[in-house]
Amino acid sequence: MAGQHEMRDGACPPGACSERWPMDPVKTDRESSEKIAAGKRDSLTVTDNRTGKSYELPIEDGAIRAADLRQIKVEEDEFGMMSYDPAFTNTASCYSRVTYIDGDKGILEYRGYPIEALAERSTFLETAYLILYGELPTKPQLEEWTWHITHHTFIHESIKKFLDGFHYDAHPMGMLVSSVAALSTFYPDAKDIFNPDSRRKQTYRLIGKMPTLAAFAYRHSLGLPYVYPDNELSYSANFLNMLFKTTELKFKPNATLEKALDVLFILHADHEQNCSTSAMRGVGSSHVDPYSATAAATAALYGPLHGGANEAVLRMLLDIGSVKNVPEYIKRVKGGEKKLMGFGHRVYKNFDPRAKIIKQVAYEVFDVLGRNPLLDIALECERIALEDDYFVKRKLYPNVDFYSGLIYQAMSFPMTMFPVLFAIPRTAGWVAQWEEMLQDPEQKIARPRQLYVGDRRRDYVPIDERQ
Ligand code: ACO
Repeated sequence: MAGQHEMRDGACPPGACSERWPMDPVKTDRESSEKIAAGKRDSLTVTDNRTGKSYELPIEDGAIRAADLRQIKVEEDEFGMMSYDPAFTNTASCYSRVTYIDGDKGILEYRGYPIEALAERSTFLETAYLILYGELPTKPQLEEWTWHITHHTFIHESIKKFLDGFHYDAHPMGMLVSSVAALSTFYPDAKDIFNPDSRRKQTYRLIGKMPTLAAFAYRHSLGLPYVYPDNELSYSANFLNMLFKTTELKFKPNATLEKALDVLFILHADHEQNCSTSAMRGVGSSHVDPYSATAAATAALYGPLHGGANEAVLRMLLDIGSVKNVPEYIKRVKGGEKKLMGFGHRVYKNFDPRAKIIKQVAYEVFDVLGRNPLLDIALECERIALEDDYFVKRKLYPNVDFYSGLIYQAMSFPMTMFPVLFAIPRTAGWVAQWEEMLQDPEQKIARPRQLYVGDRRRDYVPIDERQ
């Protein structure tokens, strides 16, 4: 069965063969070359007080090039000045045209399209196309794209055996990380990363197979038989089918839940140079195949500081237990004893635009499945926090994770599946960023520098003489 779909890889799908691939390489010299030509180059003058020398560093797109600092040195044979930036909080590692964020204004755009418009009017597969190709697809392009993704959802039967080897209570994220990495052994052609046709095929496979791997991991944890993909269903409906189908001949998803999941997928599809995307680019920069790089990105997402915050929100709401306990909990947060999980964001300092959309989706889901009893606790936390000086002063607003966990819980997902539900749509963003990285002529293998502060050359001491 699995092979049947793969054998059709080369066949022409319905609709014209109209895909544009690869995407245009990211441009790196727009502004500066125009300005230099016009003699209007912006620059920064730096004076080194150790030597009294001044240096003029060009400013391009609001940044200086870190390598330009290397000319600043005291002695000629020195390495030259570096910038120190742990966690890269103020370092741009690339030019990108995929996702725009303005954290102060609460703006998130994929390829220039506001997240609000995409959540309301697009589908996840259309948005994934936009993220990857840079433009919204025409009708034939979308049909062709959907056909390709739909026909790459099956996984090799041996991967099922591989998944069977996991313990019954294996974390689904661990299973996902391992099985995505294992895909590279099934598709050795993926190593051909400078062949656009090969890259395109791996993109279909990755976006098509992630929900299948995720659903199989979930079914394994329950000891249930795996459910094969259903090509007649939408991307999110098919995922629900593979998760929840039992004895019925044909799985029919609830339209509201299907739409809700699709919107959540859209909201999580990309978020520029976050931890997992940086892992995708960093690992991919070694020219490894995209499955191995995606496994690294998925592993980064597994961490509680990244993909695991919505689980922390749910645990916090369970811990609070009742609306009447909220003021006491907020008091403890203000006293520095606790954190209000799902509040605050490194980038968004006004509001997280995704949180507004998710709150609306939550109400739609609860209309179908009944009100999640934790919702009232969440609403009370939000009400108090938004009026309280502590949170207002620090610009702490609900983030994307504040309500998503409640939705997932209402839809019967165990908490361990929450980061998996993040990894599926984020694959589109990871692959788009990987593609952009590979085509960027300025990118090389990622290799930061360090400031060495350890011991210098010492004599080796034989073991008997050591103190
Ligand atoms: N509850 C209470 N106080 C908070 C919170 C919070 N959730 N977040 C930040 N603060 C306080 C800090 O204690 C600090 O106070 P101080 O100035 O008195 O020391 C101030 O607000 C600034 O906080 P920072 O830690 O500097 O903010 P940073 O940008 O580094 O952290 C982060 C952002 C990690 C998201 C943080 O707000 C947090 O831990 N939130 C809770 C976890 C969470 O919801 N994470 C999901 C993020 S969204 C995502 O990853 C998909």
